[in-house]
Amino acid sequence: MAKKLQIYLDYSATTAPRPEVIVAMQQALSEQWGNPSSLHEWGQRALMVVEKARLQVAGLINAPEAESIIFTSGGTEANNLAIMGVAHLYTTPQHLIISSVEHSAVAEPARLLEKWGWEVTRLPVDSWGRVRENDLESAIRPNTVLVSVIYGQSEVGTLQPIATLGEIARSKGVLFHTDAVQVVGRLPLDVQQLPVDLLSISSHKIYGPQGAGALYVRPGVELVPLLSGGGQEWGRRSGTQAVPAIAGFGVAAELALLEMEVETLRLIKLRDRLIANLADTPNLKPTGDRIWRLPHHVSFCVTGNGEKVTGKTLVRQLNLAGIAISSGSACSSGKTTPSPVLLAMGYNSRDAKGAIRLTLGRDTTEADVDWTAMVIKQILARLMPALALSK
Ligand SMILES: Cc1ncc(COP(=O)(O)O)c(C=O)c1O
Repeated sequence: MAKKLQIYLDYSATTAPRPEVIVAMQQALSEQWGNPSSLHEWGQRALMVVEKARLQVAGLINAPEAESIIFTSGGTEANNLAIMGVAHLYTTPQHLIISSVEHSAVAEPARLLEKWGWEVTRLPVDSWGRVRENDLESAIRPNTVLVSVIYGQSEVGTLQPIATLGEIARSKGVLFHTDAVQVVGRLPLDVQQLPVDLLSISSHKIYGPQGAGALYVRPGVELVPLLSGGGQEWGRRSGTQAVPAIAGFGVAAELALLEMEVETLRLIKLRDRLIANLADTPNLKPTGDRIWRLPHHVSFCVTGNGEKVTGKTLVRQLNLAGIAISSGSACSSGKTTPSPVLLAMGYNSRDAKGAIRLTLGRDTTEADVDWTAMVIKQILARLMPALALSK
């Protein structure tokens, strides 16, 4: 098997902008650099770029109208706009429901609201990372104003039953937001079918540039803007739009939609091949749901090694071998902290430090996943020889 010098398996962290995206961005920078709010020719040329991109992003999720797409600086801002934009509608603290496996861009705004006197319910998950519908049903109170549940979990790959959860919230008259950053462009998504009011998207997860994203806002849903000023984006997000980034985002969205059917099936095959290749590895345990799973996502945790080998150890060792993956745990002051997501799924703190994530994308081949599985097995056998022999 020929070895590639570099194998990138961190597509959930970010993706390389595709060539068509770079062309669109270069064109925007050199020819469409006007301010989209200006009435003259330069401004109108830039405005056309922004509005074309809005249609392209709207098309990717089948939004009913272009105005329901609010451009932001990325997924983090979209999540903050959804949570805080709803919260600011109220002058007194209310009740918010999130899941216990949210990305920090939802978990942190929720923590802030708690400091301001809001009540926050964090829905528990099962050992696969799935929220149970009954738990949402019983958590909703008369003063619940928003439910936010991540669609595709970025660390463990689990997909949530968003259609059912959204339906429950809707039946009780409560707004429903989903962080769909890892799902958009990877699985078909139709906001006219899905009972969601707010949905977050990020450009750099779908081969667009960093620094662009969007919040889908169902027509009729009110939000208080986080940024006030010039009134761009129908007053919902002031600030001159980042035209080149938005141009690239639009092209990425259009191509993602065009290629999704074929690419998603290809990724699922590669994903399952990698999981199968690693399945019999001693002390490597798959995490997340096996079936309700992002098509490009493989995650494991190294278990039973007394913290000698953490997820970060593996990330560093694989990096030396020319393979880029990520660990599920965050680093603070040099210490490895256990992943809150795995803790919520019932893992002990030792195993939760062993999380690794391998995410596949456009350039991933069968040879890449076979080689990577072999290298991981070699590294683990070297780092944990006694464990390997005992199997
Ligand atoms: C699920 C999820 N939500 C939100 C974000 C944040 O998106 P951005 O990097 O565009 O701010 C990420 C990025 O890792 C993510 O995976």
